[in-house]
Amino acid sequence: MRALLPALRPALVLAPMQAITDLPFMRVLAKRSLPDWFVTEYFRAHPASSLNRQLLRAITENATGRPVFAQLIGADLPSLLRSATALAAYPIAGIDLNLGCPAPIVCRKAAGGGLLRDPEALNRLLGGLRAAIAGRFTVKTRIGYTHCGEFPRLLDIFRSHAIDGLTIHARTVQQGYRGPVQPAWVQAAVRALPCPVIANGNIVDAPTALAYHRRTGAAGLMIGRGAIRNPWIFAQLQAAFDGTLPVIPTHRDLLEYIRDLSGEIAREAPRYEPLGHVQRMKRTLGYISHGLAPEFELHIRRCATPAEFWSLCDAHLASDAPLPLRPPVTSQLFSGFAELEEEA
Ligand SMILES: Cc1cc2nc3c(=O)[nH]c(=O)nc-3n(C[C@H](O)[C@H](O)[C@H](O)COP(=O)(O)O)c2cc1C
Repeated sequence: MRALLPALRPALVLAPMQAITDLPFMRVLAKRSLPDWFVTEYFRAHPASSLNRQLLRAITENATGRPVFAQLIGADLPSLLRSATALAAYPIAGIDLNLGCPAPIVCRKAAGGGLLRDPEALNRLLGGLRAAIAGRFTVKTRIGYTHCGEFPRLLDIFRSHAIDGLTIHARTVQQGYRGPVQPAWVQAAVRALPCPVIANGNIVDAPTALAYHRRTGAAGLMIGRGAIRNPWIFAQLQAAFDGTLPVIPTHRDLLEYIRDLSGEIAREAPRYEPLGHVQRMKRTLGYISHGLAPEFELHIRRCATPAEFWSLCDAHLASDAPLPLRPPVTSQLFSGFAELEEEA
């Protein structure tokens, strides 16, 4: 992993996001700004699983020139090992294990974030995976399941398995995606672990990225929802760390992004169906329209047909006015990001 880190600034990484960070999104993002590496949305590993062919395309058809880690989710060691071995046949940068997914159906099976509830089982699982994975093996975790007081024990476990990198979404599993993140625990991991640590959660713009980095000393920053909202974010963050001027996209640039994404998603859909396609675009627009004109957000949520969707986008976005650099501080969707800039 160290070989992947840029020399003069923290690595900037696209977060895995199920049903979003697929091949179409990677292609559209890459035309606007590039992370230093990608992590796929998770491949499920269980006794009956085989590698999802559609997800595999993010690896086999990645023409961005940037490495891709393949993420696994599961609790059954033989299944995880079988999946890791199958993935090793493809051009991946490494295997990443998901220890953060808060979905109840996942946690009930003691997978994803649910693994954090049983440190001894986690210890055995990481031992088995580390012993068998010859290439890079990284972990993406939360700071605990119910309470951040669980984190020191988790850190001991991570330290004992010579993992190649640790990404920390600095909330507990029970906190989901809302509220401030806790940079102090990321800083504790940076001090305790020999491997690179990547800080994640609530980076929405250059000031939040700079603050997260200053407060943790992390080797990298991972950005998820902020990159859906603003696909220029990686170029903007590079400029912020290099001390150069950032690109400031306009509403028209955003319209072009939405058109591009819609086209790619439609082209790559196994079966294109116009109304389903609008629903998929509306889910993504939930992040993109947030903080623009309130009536745009509301009407997009209510629209049902492609014609309505595009007439709303054209009416609201055909302007050369610059886009707001950050979401509203009162946002429920990007909740608690302003606290990153408040020094402890
Ligand atoms: C729609 C969605 C899907 C996600 N899917 C995954 C996933 O497949 N694997 C994973 O490790 N995290 C997943 N996450 C969590 C993100 O990778 C990230 O940790 C989280 O969104 C916090 O970062 P952010 O504030 O930059 O978005 C998902 C998050 C969202 C919003």
